[in-house]
Amino acid sequence: MADPGGAASFSTQANALLRKNLTYQKRNVWSNVRLIMIPFYLCVLLMVIQVLFDKNFNNSVENQCGCQCIDTQCLNKTCGLEFSSPGQAFFCAIPSPPQWPPLLQVPRPESRAVSTSSLGNRDLPDDSCRRTGSCPVTILFTGNNQSLGTSLTENLLTSSVTGNSSDILSILANNVLGTAVEADITNYLDPGIASDLPIYSIQPRCISNATIPFSFGEKPLEFKKELRCVEGLNLWRNTSVEVNDEIFKGYRRGNSEGKVNEIAAAYDLLNTDRNNFNVHIWYNSTYREDLGDRPVTLVRVARSVNLVSNAYLQFLHGPGTRMLFEYIKEMPKQETRLRLDIASLIGPLFFTWVILLLFPVILSSLVYEKQEHLRIIMKMHGLGDGPYWMISYAYFLTISVLYIISLMVFGSAIGLNFFRLNDYSLQFTFYFLYVNLQISLCFLVSSVFSKVKTSTVVAYIDVFGSGLLGLFLLQFLIRDSSVPRVWIIVMELFPGFSLYGGLYEFSQFAFRGNMRGTDGMKWKDFSDSAMVEIFIIIIVEWFLALIAAYYIDKVSSSGKSLLFFLKNPFKKTPSLRRPSLQRQGSKVFVEMEKPDVTQESEKVEQLIREQSTSHAIVCENLKKVYPGRDGNPPKLAVRGLSLAVPSGECFGMLGPNGAGKSSFINMMTGLLKPTSGTGLVRGLDIRDDMDRVYTSMGVCPQHDLLWETLTGREHLLFYGRLKNLKGSDLKQAVEESLKSVNLFHGGVADKPAGKYSGGMKRRLSVAISLIGNPKVVYMDEPSTGLDPASRKNLWTVIKRAKQHTAIILTTHSMEEAEFLCDRLGIFVDGGLQCIGNPKELKGRYGGSYVFTMTTSSENERNVEKLIQDVSPNAKKLYHIAGTQKFELRKEEVRISEVFQAVEKAKSNFTVFAWGLADTTLEDVFIKVATTGQAFNVFA
Ligand SMILES: *[C@@H]1O[C@H](CO)[C@@H](O)[C@H](O)[C@H]1NC(C)=O
Ligand SMILES: *[C@@H]1O[C@H](CO)[C@@H](O)[C@H](O)[C@H]1NC(C)=O
Ligand SMILES: *[C@@H]1O[C@H](CO)[C@@H](O)[C@H](O)[C@H]1NC(C)=O
Ligand SMILES: *[C@@H]1O[C@H](CO)[C@@H](O)[C@H](O)[C@H]1NC(C)=O
Repeated sequence: MADPGGAASFSTQANALLRKNLTYQKRNVWSNVRLIMIPFYLCVLLMVIQVLFDKNFNNSVENQCGCQCIDTQCLNKTCGLEFSSPGQAFFCAIPSPPQWPPLLQVPRPESRAVSTSSLGNRDLPDDSCRRTGSCPVTILFTGNNQSLGTSLTENLLTSSVTGNSSDILSILANNVLGTAVEADITNYLDPGIASDLPIYSIQPRCISNATIPFSFGEKPLEFKKELRCVEGLNLWRNTSVEVNDEIFKGYRRGNSEGKVNEIAAAYDLLNTDRNNFNVHIWYNSTYREDLGDRPVTLVRVARSVNLVSNAYLQFLHGPGTRMLFEYIKEMPKQETRLRLDIASLIGPLFFTWVILLLFPVILSSLVYEKQEHLRIIMKMHGLGDGPYWMISYAYFLTISVLYIISLMVFGSAIGLNFFRLNDYSLQFTFYFLYVNLQISLCFLVSSVFSKVKTSTVVAYIDVFGSGLLGLFLLQFLIRDSSVPRVWIIVMELFPGFSLYGGLYEFSQFAFRGNMRGTDGMKWKDFSDSAMVEIFIIIIVEWFLALIAAYYIDKVSSSGKSLLFFLKNPFKKTPSLRRPSLQRQGSKVFVEMEKPDVTQESEKVEQLIREQSTSHAIVCENLKKVYPGRDGNPPKLAVRGLSLAVPSGECFGMLGPNGAGKSSFINMMTGLLKPTSGTGLVRGLDIRDDMDRVYTSMGVCPQHDLLWETLTGREHLLFYGRLKNLKGSDLKQAVEESLKSVNLFHGGVADKPAGKYSGGMKRRLSVAISLIGNPKVVYMDEPSTGLDPASRKNLWTVIKRAKQHTAIILTTHSMEEAEFLCDRLGIFVDGGLQCIGNPKELKGRYGGSYVFTMTTSSENERNVEKLIQDVSPNAKKLYHIAGTQKFELRKEEVRISEVFQAVEKAKSNFTVFAWGLADTTLEDVFIKVATTGQAFNVFA
């Protein structure tokens, strides 16, 4: 067998892991393909939604201009307003838009200004008019010259001139018309005319409150309306401050009586005189409450400008002069289609989810390796952190890049503008940077979790939370121009939001590009979009996350607490020292009773003093104290263990469950940091040289840590490479190893480990721990769950391997301990109770025979008497229903005497069964374990 040439280099380790991962991923290729295909399914889903949406909305008859068939088969159609319902009319081409009479916006009857006690404006009507709905429409005036103002107000409203003309518009133009219905953003159809509410004719005085019916427009836009007279009240105020005040107090619930008191319009004539016309107009721009971010329509303001201009003209040139304002007309327009692009609408949310979906996948895969201890077992066999990080990172990056490429390809293929209009290299750079940040974050976050389930739940909450908060909070704030940019940037420091922000920019550019028929975002737009900041945030966070993750990984794998630098150094020491001091005293006492244990620790002290490396494993007063939790006192798991194991020796550790064997093994394998004391493995300290210790160590953990889809051979190849075996040496070592554990024949070596039986897995684990001739091997109950034949087989393997290795082995099988181990230590309640080779131990603790006899219960006394005769100092161990067991001191009895006595007894009474046995290791164990435990309870 080849001897490994020292520790494996970085590239060798990376190569080993890469090859293992490639094989592993090759087996898992379909789950990888499924992952990469997720964007495809999601894009298809988006397309299906778009198609359904097109069918039901975009292309539905309701959402396009109405048509009528010309021929019977309906091959040709004419479309236009005349065939449309009011809803369809919205989409029709309007080559010559209708002309609407200019209307003045007036308050609703119930909110028109009336005099109130608090306002004290006695010139307003009292509120009895509200009951009849006949309140006047108030218009306020102010200016520097009241007499000029008064003459203007007289000209403002004229009595209705019911001209006789076929042209209804010119008749209406002679009236001042008003409506309480708010205007629309376009004026293809004036809601004031189209609604059922009457049109007001505002006159200085109403003679009757009869309404005059008239019809307006032509089919299909013909409206039958009523013209209702309403009084117009022009009131003078001394200053513009007063006007402001009055308007403000009437606004919504502004005045103290909680009454709305609205003014239709107000004019400040300033310094207007005969040569100079200068006017300010107040109008209500908040008239529409549901406006959102749509522009405020000024369509109703035109009439108030015209009114005052007309009044001024008449003031200059007399009542005969008139400036008629006949109609307002929109620009002509093309036929339009409802074209809602679902992808642009929900794009940022949807693609945020798509990309964030990788987060739980990567995180759970990292936490899985931690949870299943696969990472640590690889580490114990010499895989450094560097290669692990590099190869894992490279793998996740590859998967992520394929994923985003698939997203971009499928997204473009199904024609989403989101992908097609923006520059591909820009998009790719953005996604690439983000997935790098995401992977680094996974590494960082994985250190917090130890269970896959919790990590997955938290990750999915993050995915959905980021998307939804992005949509409802971040996007809302971005669109609100009053929110300072700094706030947005601060929010985008959260990775999910920076992704959302970037995608939102893409969707905005794509949306605008689509509307204008140009491209989306290009590199030249990059510098003046919000993308710059997002890129900087992502890049900086990427590096920070990497550094933090590396740091935390280093610290946590060295067993320290993550926040060790925050701990109060004075607090920790006394709480740990106190119990150990107490125990120290008792330990000295215990050791006085146990010369073998004392001798071992003296040997260790000498080895340390001489700095000898003749022993592969040396533990010096190794202690482990678990700090007290929830008010429990600190628990001493290992109390000062000294042990030296030379190469070529197998040391067996026996002990009841919970005695501290696993804590000991965990400290020696670097899983736990010792509280005090240390261990030296071939002269290297386990407290700070663990990485070098690992290169010559093999571990067979209690539970098999294997990859289900890798074969036995692949496992051994991987661990062999980690132990720096190469080429033919590696092949030979693997083959021999497989043969030695009986996994070579019948193609077993090339079956995936998941299909192995429990015994085969166990044998593979042992083979793994022994490959590459490690100098030190720890085996935690290597033969549990094996059938007797496999167990024998395994023993021979271990026995052979022992020749050039120091092995520490824990077991519950005395047979195994006797067969394999050169020396044994019985470990009870955190301390060694005895140490020595099996024969010595039996001699020391088993200086007695065990005598058992079963009789009927009335003869029990006779049996006792019999034993009394043979051995006066015999001790009764137990007696149950006629069966009694005694311990006979070896120096007192001769076996022949016992036989004679029994023969004699048989003639006196009936003996159902009897037996005489020498002590076994098991007896020794039980004896040591029970006395040790009893002793330590009082210690
Ligand atoms: C006010 O206007 C009238 C014309 O209506 C004019 O005769 C008068 O001189 C003006 N008064 C002032 C102070 O300008
Ligand atoms: C309007 O003109 C028509 C004829 O064009 C005439 O019959 C009618 O009496 C006139 N009405 C008024 C109010 O002048
Ligand atoms: C406005 O001015 C006139 C004349 O200067 C005065 O009589 C009147 O009291 C003033 N009105 C108010 C409300 O101050
Ligand atoms: C403007 O119109 C809205 C909506 O009708 C109304 O609530 C508000 O009080 C009006 N503002 C003023 C100053 O009258």
